[in-house]
Amino acid sequence: MKIVVAMTGASGAAFAARLLDVLDQQQHDVHLIISESAGLVFQEELGLRIDVRQLDPCEFVLQCRRALEPWGGTQTSSIQLQPPQLQPRGTLRYYQANDFMAPIASGSYLTDGMVVCPCSGGTLSSIVHGLGNNLIHRAADVHLKERRRLIVVPRETPLSAIQLENMRRLAEAGAVVMPAMPGWYHGVRGVMDLIDFMVARILDQLEIPHELVRRWGTQMELS
Ligand SMILES: Cc1cc2nc3c(=O)[nH]c(=O)nc-3n(C[C@H](O)[C@H](O)[C@H](O)COP(=O)(O)O)c2cc1C
Repeated sequence: MKIVVAMTGASGAAFAARLLDVLDQQQHDVHLIISESAGLVFQEELGLRIDVRQLDPCEFVLQCRRALEPWGGTQTSSIQLQPPQLQPRGTLRYYQANDFMAPIASGSYLTDGMVVCPCSGGTLSSIVHGLGNNLIHRAADVHLKERRRLIVVPRETPLSAIQLENMRRLAEAGAVVMPAMPGWYHGVRGVMDLIDFMVARILDQLEIPHELVRRWGTQMELS
């Protein structure tokens, strides 16, 4: 599948890192955009030093895997974290957030959907108001106008009335709003299981088959 992945400056870089890892393992065609603030959050939360103005997406996937390693494997997943020494398997393209010449800035370029993960309150607001003042906002706008899948993963707590209203409006406009709120009912043994819960729900919304976490109603095989 051809998926646009936008990472913005909300907390929860690990969700984005694992999403990228899994999409790459499954050999999807990923079009990646990372905001300046997301770069700061990746540094703060995962210790990654990245320059969003000149990023090698293949190296970035490997960096993400390396950063997630200390959290260990996942107990419930059949998709283990890929070792960082293995080369990326999917097709990865990276665009700077001011690159309006990118194919994904136009509705005529076909994609199977877009995920904004994590999504800051700022980006949420910009998408809701159709600002289109960077490639992330513009690509999201394109997905809404073309009636394609747009999945937005905001992270903030508590939420102001403004943010709640923005989420309501975005859902009404056709996006799937799924706050980074992992469930705990799939046999959580560690942090990776919580990360994988969110990534699994995102993949479900993209209709990408996976066995990332145990589904409710299926056998629990943990000892
Ligand atoms: C370490 C760090 C953590 C942040 N966490 C959040 C957050 O959880 N939610 C949020 O809405 N903004 C958060 N922010 C603030 C946003 O990054 C800021 O509003 C920024 O302008 C968002 O820009 P962007 O949407 O273009 O990435 C955080 C900033 C930093 C540096």
